[in-house]
Amino acid sequence: MTRVLLTGGAGYIGSHTAVALCQSGFEPVLLDDFSNSVPAVLDRLARITGRAFPCEHGDAADVSFVRQVIERHAIEAVVHFAGFKAVGESVAEPLKYFRNNVGSALGVLDAMRETSCRALVFSSTATVYGDPDRVPVNESAPRRYENPYAQTKGMVEDILAATARSDPSWCFGVLRYFNPVGAHPSGLIGEDPHGTPNNLMPYISQVAIGRRPALQIFGGDYATPDGTGVRDYIHVSDLAAGHVAALRHLLERREGLIVNLGSGQGHSVLEVLRAYERACGHAIAHQLAPRRPGDVACYYADPGLAHSLLGWRAQRTLDEMCADAWRWQSGNPNGYHGG
Ligand code: NAD
Ligand code: UD1
Repeated sequence: MTRVLLTGGAGYIGSHTAVALCQSGFEPVLLDDFSNSVPAVLDRLARITGRAFPCEHGDAADVSFVRQVIERHAIEAVVHFAGFKAVGESVAEPLKYFRNNVGSALGVLDAMRETSCRALVFSSTATVYGDPDRVPVNESAPRRYENPYAQTKGMVEDILAATARSDPSWCFGVLRYFNPVGAHPSGLIGEDPHGTPNNLMPYISQVAIGRRPALQIFGGDYATPDGTGVRDYIHVSDLAAGHVAALRHLLERREGLIVNLGSGQGHSVLEVLRAYERACGHAIAHQLAPRRPGDVACYYADPGLAHSLLGWRAQRTLDEMCADAWRWQSGNPNGYHGG
């Protein structure tokens, strides 16, 4: 069985990908410093899969630590999730973001260079497109960085491209995620943001469960059908399946790729709110608020390349995303912290 190292594997997307990989015949090994996750996720993963995944506690930027992990577990491929992801925080503390997001990628690549492991999938983001000229957005759209977070992801994409050019034995899969939401249908793992959620779906979840009074809808006067912002929401289990498909492609064909992972469908804030109300069975308090600085009116993916190259397509609907998010939130009102 192919052993795959998941840096940041205890986090939201990493934990769901660990399940998908295990159920597709891979052997996941997790590496995490728990800067934005908790070890409790490991028990949940064992309950879902019936397997106890090894988890190495440490920093992905630490070259000798990562090299030892790769050697000890005979790792054949890496999925590099480890990094920070809050756009606003990256504006306030850019050095923290450049150091961790670029530093952890360099650490992992240097560690891999000292071994024979040459295949890596990287968590990039649709935020590298900034405010795109047209939608749906395809992979040839220019990258425009509107904040340090997006820039760190673009820098790592460029580091991967230069590394692949330097030695053809490397192969890299760059996955540009749109808006990952939802949770595993078991309700045992999900998104567990610390403090006030930055993103729409976890915020709605916390209003629905009574942890916050009301959703603020950031802008009702965009040039969209109902005036609220439109995004491409993708179920985290579909996103996880995209990682499995990308890894198979890298390991079988030994050729790199850059693909969007999105559903190809745009949904407005109000559509998400209504779908969540259907899922939880009650009204969710909300009010109109000013636009959030830096937000764009509308973007969604052209997911055609992922389909033609990987045979992958998002399957789950917005109603399923909300139903699974609600199952996780209602079963775990305080996330992994119990109570
Ligand atoms: P997350 O914060 O839940 O997971 C990231 C994990 O990495 C956490 O468990 C954290 O403890 C760990 N980590 C951070 N720095 C580390 C380091 N130096 N060494 C070891 N572990 C470290 O975030 P997520 O939502 O699962 O995102 C995973 C990746 O996908 C990130 O790189 C993020 O930028 C990217 N991404 C996320 C989204 C999203 O909306 N969630 C969208 C696009 C891209
Ligand atoms: C944000 C990040 C992006 C990241 C993505 C992850 C910014 C500028 N961009 O994108 O880098 O990859 O999350 O999913 O932060 N909204 C509300 N009220 C809220 C929260 C959000 O109305 O309390 C609206 C937003 O204005 C937007 C939509 O909901 O129209 C989605 O917002 P969000 O979940 O934050 O995602 P993005 O803005 O697409």
